[in-house]
Amino acid sequence: MIIEECPHAGYEQVFSCRDEDTGLNAFIAIHDTTLGPALGGLRMYPYRQSADALTDVLRLARGMTYKSAVADLPLGGGKSVLIGDPENSKTEAVLRSFGRCIDTLGGHYIVAEDVGTDVADMDMIRRETTFVAGTSDSGGDPSIHTAYGVQQGMRAAARTVFGRDGLKGLTVAVQGLGHVGMNLCMLLSLEGAMLTVTDVNPSLIRQAVAEFGAAPVDPAAIYRTECDIFSPCAMGAVINDQTIGQLRTRIVAGSANNVLAEERHGEMLAEMGILYAPDFVVNAGGIINVAEGLNGYNRARARRKVAAIYQTMLQVIELAGTRHISTARAAVVLAEEKLTRSNH
Ligand SMILES: NC(=O)c1ccc[n+]([C@@H]2O[C@H](COP(=O)([O-])OP(=O)(O)OC[C@H]3O[C@@H](n4cnc5c(N)ncnc54)[C@H](O)[C@@H]3O)[C@@H](O)[C@H]2O)c1
Repeated sequence: MIIEECPHAGYEQVFSCRDEDTGLNAFIAIHDTTLGPALGGLRMYPYRQSADALTDVLRLARGMTYKSAVADLPLGGGKSVLIGDPENSKTEAVLRSFGRCIDTLGGHYIVAEDVGTDVADMDMIRRETTFVAGTSDSGGDPSIHTAYGVQQGMRAAARTVFGRDGLKGLTVAVQGLGHVGMNLCMLLSLEGAMLTVTDVNPSLIRQAVAEFGAAPVDPAAIYRTECDIFSPCAMGAVINDQTIGQLRTRIVAGSANNVLAEERHGEMLAEMGILYAPDFVVNAGGIINVAEGLNGYNRARARRKVAAIYQTMLQVIELAGTRHISTARAAVVLAEEKLTRSNH
């Protein structure tokens, strides 16, 4: 096994991990440990090139620093990516050799699940290292908590935009019906919201139509769907130069990480009068739950902390208003202020 440090400006440590015997090919990025050990999920994806995997892990690790800071967690930001198709190359040998890599970092980085990995994978990694969260005995699947947090963020945004408590009667367009998206649809439909949904997997669309009475649309049509809230719950960078002009919504609030292709898209949304609920503010429910599991899991306490995303979102909106900046920028300011404060 080869663990090679590949320094990157602005990051504490970045590692390339390879193991010819098992086929492991991964990166681990530790962005910032000011507030505590870097905790962030392991993403498994068939990246076309190593450079794409590295770009992804760097962006995601930085987002984790901000996410934990804004959520007041005693954690830093880190992330890992495993190059490969989770459907056919996620073997016990790969996961266990990745676990051994993490173990050599001595707790600077703690892994959890992300796209392409799940609770069973964390249990497997646990056989090689204790620096793993989101296992079956410590809170389990974070996605229901992520969905609950997104719902709280939506409520805060709806209160600001529509002056109403709750989401009853509002139309929400959900992009991506995976672990988070489907749970979110359930929570929203229980609350009386109306749903328009899409996914690249037609069977998931059929499920949402059958279970929640959702209106189906093709993946490309979701951006121009008339709605009160657009909720990206699939991949990142979906608000970009091609899509932004198509939006017919008042709020953007979803679980996907790195929703904005570039920072300037946050300013553009603000100029268009669309309230953006920053991704790392509203999708923190999963990590809040995972962090709770590190110190003896208490479901009620975890849920209370996730519910606080409502207040955090209102705080971001207020900061944006008083400083005349976009909510996207305000969330970064809030995170950086918390990091700076803890340095003094
Ligand atoms: N799982 C969590 O707790 C959590 C926490 C924080 C952030 N996130 C982020 O939320 C997003 C969703 O996470 P998840 O765990 O539900 O992942 P998932 O893989 O279970 O679901 C993603 C879904 O999006 C669909 N999809 C992919 N491309 C699409 C496209 N172009 N149009 C429509 N649908 C598309 C997939 O078919 C899949 O059903 C990811 O960006 C993830 O990083 C998840």
